[in-house]
Amino acid sequence: MEAKAIPLLTPYTIGRFHLSHRVVHAPLTRSRCYNNLPGEHVALYYSQRASEGGLLISESTGVSETAQGYPSTPGIWTKDQVEAWKPVVEGVHQKGGVFFCQIWHVGRASTYDYQPNGQAPISCTDKQITPEVLDDGTVEEFSAPRRLREDEIHQIVNDFRLAARNCIEAGFDRVEIHCAFGYLIEQFMKDSVNDRTDKYGGSMENRCRFALEVIQAAIDEAGADRVGVRLSPNSNYLDCWDSDPDALGLYMIHAMNKLGVLYCSMVEPEAVKVDGKVQIPYKLLHFRKAFSGTFIVGGGYNREEGNRAVSEGYIDLVAYGKWFLANPDLPKRFGLNALLNKYDRSTFYSPDPVAGTAYTPQVLLLNFGKTLVVPF
Ligand SMILES: Cc1cc2nc3c(=O)[nH]c(=O)nc-3n(C[C@H](O)[C@H](O)[C@H](O)COP(=O)(O)O)c2cc1C
Repeated sequence: MEAKAIPLLTPYTIGRFHLSHRVVHAPLTRSRCYNNLPGEHVALYYSQRASEGGLLISESTGVSETAQGYPSTPGIWTKDQVEAWKPVVEGVHQKGGVFFCQIWHVGRASTYDYQPNGQAPISCTDKQITPEVLDDGTVEEFSAPRRLREDEIHQIVNDFRLAARNCIEAGFDRVEIHCAFGYLIEQFMKDSVNDRTDKYGGSMENRCRFALEVIQAAIDEAGADRVGVRLSPNSNYLDCWDSDPDALGLYMIHAMNKLGVLYCSMVEPEAVKVDGKVQIPYKLLHFRKAFSGTFIVGGGYNREEGNRAVSEGYIDLVAYGKWFLANPDLPKRFGLNALLNKYDRSTFYSPDPVAGTAYTPQVLLLNFGKTLVVPF
């Protein structure tokens, strides 16, 4: 089969980067960065998934001591962390990949245990996230947060600025700002959480002020053509939703257009099944039309739906999460229409450095009647 005939495997230019295909590695937290440092196994993980002209987004990476809320997630606020990232980034570059670092702050999605001196997590509010019973029966409970004073907010913006600067030092092709899934920036953006009465609360403009200050700070450091933003206006994770997600998403997109943001990465609110097959109902089309940069979408895509969405112009690039996690050579497999390794949810966040990474040095592609060994 001619690789060129496959829409996902057609080249695409994003700013200064010339991609040879459109299969993007979505940000994937693995909880394996002990002491907030990415180690050798993390370098191996990313280099296995890197390909010539392929775009990878890193797992969420904390911008400061107060940014953490989950076990063994990486940071990029200390010199040691920057040094630890360098070989990871180098490994991706050696394979010809383009590597963006997703920077985040969890805000109130944290507990006293993760915070310096056991203090309260910070947020735009002092409302606690409602404890939730997870699929495995355990209860996820976060500590009551402390509402940031208005005069403290610029310090958090500055943490993002310094993190963006550290991404440059670590060699990343630059940054994605995590403005999604109920973490700090989204806590400010969405009206189910933000109950402030100062200039960071109330109107849409006020609620988006913090997000846009952070994006501007990253742009000041890295340049607009090296800053991407992830948004999920339709999500309701961590008790965080908005009464008007369309207006919120469009407000952010118009502001991002003015700032010249390189890409907008969004999460598909819905994937339905029609005749037993996954189908993406293109619910983000109005956002796609409004955004003037590169539009990346992920969430529930398989090979077929990725090809359809790219060929119909719904999106420019597809961010694959679970399939990329389990299939390090995913673009190659898509090219060959080969079988995919199944993913195993139970190992997604396992601290084991090997479990659930398809860690074999080579992958067997079995649907050609003969065994094809693909090195990566
Ligand atoms: C194990 C795991 C970790 C994830 N970690 C992050 C993360 O660090 N940052 C983020 O923005 N999204 C994260 N996500 C969401 C993914 O980037 C992606 O949007 C989601 O998996 C849906 O895409 P998929 O259906 O292709 O997996 C994570 C998802 C999974 C399964």
